[in-house]
Amino acid sequence: MENKWRQKLHLEPPHGWLNDPNGPCFYKGKYHFYFQYSPDGALGEPPRCWGHFESADLIHWDFTGAVLAPSIPEDRNGCYSGGTFIKDGVMHIFYTGNTKEPGTDLILHGRGANVIHVTTTDGHNMSGKKVLLRNEDYPEYCSCHVRDPRVWEQNGKYQMLLGARRRDDIGCILWYESTDLENWEFVRAFSLPGLGYMWECPDIFVLDGEEYLSFSPQGVRHETMRYQNTFQTGYFNNGSFEEWDYGFDFYAPQTFLTPDGRRIIIGWMGMGETAYTNSTIPLGWQHCLTVPREISRLDNGYLIQKPAREIEDLIYETAVFEDNSVTDISAPFELDARVTGAFKITLDGGLELKYDGELFTAEFTNEALGAKRDMRRVKCGECGDIKILADVSGLEIYLHGGRYVMSTRYYPEGDTVSVKAEGISGTIGKMKAMEVNFNGK
Ligand code: FRU
Repeated sequence: MENKWRQKLHLEPPHGWLNDPNGPCFYKGKYHFYFQYSPDGALGEPPRCWGHFESADLIHWDFTGAVLAPSIPEDRNGCYSGGTFIKDGVMHIFYTGNTKEPGTDLILHGRGANVIHVTTTDGHNMSGKKVLLRNEDYPEYCSCHVRDPRVWEQNGKYQMLLGARRRDDIGCILWYESTDLENWEFVRAFSLPGLGYMWECPDIFVLDGEEYLSFSPQGVRHETMRYQNTFQTGYFNNGSFEEWDYGFDFYAPQTFLTPDGRRIIIGWMGMGETAYTNSTIPLGWQHCLTVPREISRLDNGYLIQKPAREIEDLIYETAVFEDNSVTDISAPFELDARVTGAFKITLDGGLELKYDGELFTAEFTNEALGAKRDMRRVKCGECGDIKILADVSGLEIYLHGGRYVMSTRYYPEGDTVSVKAEGISGTIGKMKAMEVNFNGK
C-alpha cells in the first residue's frame, strides 16, 4: 500500500475508516485509545467496529485491530460510540448497539439504540455482550436517535450520559444512574433549544473544581465567525457554548485523565457530510485522531488546549525563522511564534494563515492542497502567540496559548513544505515521528 500522506504524529488505521475516539483511558500501565472503525472501507462501509491502539507513553503505539464488532441482533448495524469506565481493576465498556430497519425514516421509526455493556481485563479481549437499555427505556419524547453512553462515578453512584434527539428536533442529553452498572434509572434530561437537533458524544469532567459538559451538536445554524463546520463540538462555560475547534476537521472528542492528573482531550480529526474530501481515500484509508491535548482552565472559565508534553518532547532540533523568509522543511514539525501584529504565514504555497490584529483566517488558495476545503475564521482579538503542529497531511493550529484551536487536513505533494513568513518570526522545531506498529493487521 502506498503510504503517501501517512501521518507521523496522528493515529490512523492501516486501512479503512476512522471516526470518533471512544473511551480513551489509562489502564494497567497503558493508554488505550479506541475508535470508530470500519476496517473494510475508506468510506465507512459496514461493519462499524471499535478499533484499538495501546501505548505506555503516548508515542510508541500498538494497533490490535477491531476489538469489538457487531455480533448480536442488538448491534447488527454497528458498534457505535461509547466510553470506558474502570472499577476494581476491570475495564467496563458501554457502547451503542445500532440497528436499522430498511424502509423506515430511521429518526422516528426503525432505528434501535441499545446501550450494551462488555468488560475486559486486558483492553482487547472482550466478555460477552449484555444489553442494558433499549428504545423503550428512553423518555417518550425522544426520537430513535439516542447514543454514545459515557459512564463515571459520582456521589457514590454510577452515572451515565447519553446524547439524544428529541421528537421535536431539539438536541438533548439524558442522564441515568445505577448502583451496579447494569440496572439504570432515568434521572433527568437537559436541552437548550436553538443549539441543534441532535447532541452526540457527551462527556463530562471537572477541572479546578468546575464541572464541564462537552458534546457535539448537529444542526446548529452556521454563522460567519462561529459554527462554520458541518457539525459542531464544544463545551459550556457559564451557560455559553464554546467551540473546541474552529475547523475544518474536528468532531466528537472525549477526555480522560493521565496517571499524573492531566486532563487530556482527543478528537476525531475529521467530520461527517463535508463538501470537501480527503486525498487518502484512493490509498485505502481515511481520517485520523488529533494528538492528545492537555486542557487547562483560564480564570474566566474558558479552556485552553496544548499538545500533550509527550508530543512536544518529539522536537529534537530547533531553528529560527526570520520575518520575510521562506523555509523548506519536512513534516512533522512545529512552528512557534509570538504575535506582535498583523502577519501572514503561507504553507506549501496554498494555505494562507492570516491575522489582521483581530481576526485569524485559514484559507486554502490551492484546491488540491485543501482537497476542496475553503476558509475558516476565528475572531480571536488579541492573539499573543501561534503554534502550528504540522504533520504530513494535517495541521493543528493553536492561537493565543491554545484558547482557540483550528485543525485541518491538507495534502502537500512534495517531500517538504515551504513556510513563508510575513510580519512574523519565531522558531521551527523538527520532530521525530511516533512509532506505530500495525502488527500486520
Ligand atoms: C459521531 C457519531 C456518533 C455515533 C458514531 C457512529 O460521529 O455519529 O454519534 O455513535 O458516530 O460511528
